[in-house]
Amino acid sequence: EKGGYPHFMLKEIFEQPSAIKDTYRGRLLAKEGIIRMAGIDDNIERFLNAKRIIIVACGTSWHAGLVAEYIFEDLARIPVEVEYASEFRYRNPIISDKDVVIAISQSGETADTLAAIKLAKSRGAFVFGVCNVVGSSIARETHAGAYTHAGPEIGVASTKAFTTQITVLTLIALKLAKNNGSMSNSDFHHHLQELELIPEKVEKALQSDPHIQAVAEIYKNAKNCLYLGRGYNFPVALEGALKLKEISYIHAEGYPAAEMKHGPIALIDEQMPVIVIATKKGHYEKVVSNIEEIKARKGKIIGIVTEGDTNVKQLADHVIEVPETLESLSPLLTTIPLQLLSYHIAVMLGRNVDQPRNLAKSVTVE
Ligand code: F6R
Repeated sequence: EKGGYPHFMLKEIFEQPSAIKDTYRGRLLAKEGIIRMAGIDDNIERFLNAKRIIIVACGTSWHAGLVAEYIFEDLARIPVEVEYASEFRYRNPIISDKDVVIAISQSGETADTLAAIKLAKSRGAFVFGVCNVVGSSIARETHAGAYTHAGPEIGVASTKAFTTQITVLTLIALKLAKNNGSMSNSDFHHHLQELELIPEKVEKALQSDPHIQAVAEIYKNAKNCLYLGRGYNFPVALEGALKLKEISYIHAEGYPAAEMKHGPIALIDEQMPVIVIATKKGHYEKVVSNIEEIKARKGKIIGIVTEGDTNVKQLADHVIEVPETLESLSPLLTTIPLQLLSYHIAVMLGRNVDQPRNLAKSVTVE
């Protein structure tokens, strides 16, 4: 059942090229220049008339929501707010029939997310679900939705659910961007072509696994870890830190790279590994100067870089390469090495990778 892999988590990490393909199959028609999604097509006026989109989710799905905020605002020019479902439901949110709410949930059973949906519906909002489990409570409770089609995710730590959620949300954003005129035809086509290439680029990113394992060996005894990224890759830093803490029980924090000097920089010494997402597109020079600041305080740098990078290589203690892509699609690639790094560290520490202590795969109580 684990398909020859020692853990479900590793199997699910390696399934991502095919999972992402399954997500866009029949939806992304790159040659024709069309995105076909019934749940959006049938409700296109609701989306196009929306004053804003509110995304509600928990955990890793909330991180996918944060990536979606960058994608929707950048490509489709629609204002987005991303909320922890647990906070949203209890703070008397301002919400009306002009709002579209997108609820993201792998299991479709998360209690807080379900309650947030019911609240939004009671205030007249249109609620759209992005779920993996077909026929789940959230899939049934929402007005419309799009499944991620990632296949069953058994490992408690979410991996392929995250990248397929981002894929669905990217498809939606592109479709709306085309419909509301915020994206040129050529830009739209270019995005479709690049999205279609993502599975093979994920495959390539996965080939760094032996190198990532070697890096894991060096840092497995770290007590703390910092993850930094900017822009589209800030939420990836948060997700990388969550993956490490939940399966290895090492304390880790994700931060926007520029926030470092507002506090976390005080933590940096020669014991502190800092994982920095420093891909070529998207504030590259700024991230490089953040790396220099960490180096000056003797922090250990693991850079996630674009293939062929030379700048960061000179500064960092280790680099892990991912293929080049559009900035808006880069989270789909930069996430991969962070998943593998957490996985290997957890295995080396003898942790129960698929069922970490105190955690449940679906959180049906608040
Ligand atoms: C982390 C993880 C959790 C879930 C969260 C939401 O790896 O799996 O943080 O992402 O409990 O679950 P869903 O997406 O099922 O609503």
